[in-house]
Order: sequence, then structure tokens, then C-alpha cells
Amino acid sequence: MTEDTILRKAIPLEDLISVLPQLEDINYWLNLNPNSTISDHPFADFSTLPKTDDKILDKYALQLREEGYFQTNPLIPIATLQEMNECINQVRKAGLPPMFALVYDVFYQAFGYFDSTLSGILGSNYKLVPNFWVYYIDAVDTGKGFEPHRDAEYANTIDTNGMPTVLTIWITITDATPLNSCMYILPLNRDPQYADAITDLKTPANQFALEDIRALPTKAGILSCWNQYVFHWGSRSSKRAPEPRISYAAYCQRGDIAPVDDVMIDIPSVVDFSTRLGLICRGLYRYSYASFQHSEKAQPVLEFFHKHKANLK
Ligand SMILES: [Fe+2]
Repeated sequence: MTEDTILRKAIPLEDLISVLPQLEDINYWLNLNPNSTISDHPFADFSTLPKTDDKILDKYALQLREEGYFQTNPLIPIATLQEMNECINQVRKAGLPPMFALVYDVFYQAFGYFDSTLSGILGSNYKLVPNFWVYYIDAVDTGKGFEPHRDAEYANTIDTNGMPTVLTIWITITDATPLNSCMYILPLNRDPQYADAITDLKTPANQFALEDIRALPTKAGILSCWNQYVFHWGSRSSKRAPEPRISYAAYCQRGDIAPVDDVMIDIPSVVDFSTRLGLICRGLYRYSYASFQHSEKAQPVLEFFHKHKANLK
């Protein structure tokens, strides 16, 4: 995404300013969600979790090459999804952007369920590129996800075999349906401008046939992955949807290429409370800065973001 299109998520500024001081206190978060933990080692114990078998990995890799994306079966247990849902709901009730739910272990623990899939596609030393966003699309007629775009933050991330070296990972916490803003995607083999987009990140997508658009209704607990250049979007939601669309996203990259961004996280590794606050502030700054950059009132929030982003260095 180019700068003028990634900076577009509005956040409730005044609510945020009033609570800034307490956000640095881990006990505030533990009290907000007493059933959830905040430890230093959220990626522990992957070895006992189920593995994706090679035939399924081959199928995913083929679809990535041919269409630019793949989706797993539901991988995250219902109890874990419920915990994520509860964390996000309590954070919203406190007047905060849902991104702050990423202080809790459960969102990192979930990577255990994806580990064998991501290792199979990106290599065993793959890394998390923590460009996080947490989505909460209300079941109302005005809700929607990101408008049509290519992620396109990094050029030339397709290798000589046609495989991506950087993947967007999108994790559904509730079912995503056509009524609550599920994903729509243009498979790369239906996009006449796709090849240009790999090298030119500003390549538009305006030459495809409407019938080539594919809806991706997605059950909760599924890992969806796509490359940097496929054209996609979250649809308009409806008040007729039975529940909001709740999900979160980040990137992963191969470990044997140079870091594509300024922060990269090993899986597993220590991701303590201070690091998480830094990641949350980095994501909010990166993807919502435009919503308040022209407002003098935003200064305390910007200072807070900069202070905690600095902890990542
Ligand atoms: Fe995207």
C-alpha cells in the first residue's frame, strides 16, 4: 500500500487521551481481562500441537503460485477464539482501539497453530513482521474493512519459483461472511496488471472482469495468507449480519532474506509487555496516523506512540 492509502483508520482520539497514563501499567490490563495472561514468553510449547501434512502444504503452495493466496481449515480451538473475543470486547468497552488487545498472550499463542503451515511455506526460520492490525467491523450498514488495495508495502517479494517470500497472515476470530465484511480477492491469474504490481507498488487494478472477483467467506480460527500484490478488500457489512467481523493481521517473511521492515520478531522469542506496547503503538501510528495528524489535540497520543515505538529499537 502506498502512504496515502495505508494511513486511513480513524481512532477515537479523545477517549484515548483520557486513559493514556494507565495504559503503561500492566496491572490495568490484567484487571481489564482477569482470565487472560501477559507473560514474557507467549510463543511457548509449539511442539505438542498438530502439524499440517505435506500433501496439504503442497496444495497451499500450488494455490499461492497460481492464485496468490490460500486458506487453512479452522485451526484455533473455540476456547482460544472466545478468549480473544473477550479481550477485544473488554478493550473496546474501555474506549480503546481493539489493537490494544495485543497486550495479551493469547494472540501470540495462536501462532502455535499456524507454525507448521508457515514453516512449510516460508521455511523453518520464518519471522514475524509485526505490522499488526486488529479489525472489528460492526454488524451495521456503515461498517467495512480496508477498501480495495494491494498490500504492496514491499516490492519484489516473489521468488524465482513464483513463491512469496513475504506473506500477509489474516486470522478470523469470528466467522467472516458476505454480511459482515468478508474478504474479496482477485486471484492473480485473473488480474492483467498483477505482474506489473510486483515491481511497481503503485500499480492500479482496473482492468479485470467483475465475474473474476472471488468472495472468501471464512470460518473463525482459519489462517488466510496472500502475497503482497493480490488485489483484495473487505466488503460493506450489513445490519443483518448475526455478529461483527473480528480478526487480526500481520506479515511473515522468510528468514533467509533481508528483513523487509524495521522490526522483525523471531518465533519463538521473548515478546514482553513493553515490546507489545511498542508494537501496538507502531501499528496504530503506521495505519491510523492520517486520522489525526492535522489535529493539535493529537499531540499527547503521538508522543505516547513515539515513546513506546522507541522501545522496539
Ligand atoms: Fe490488505
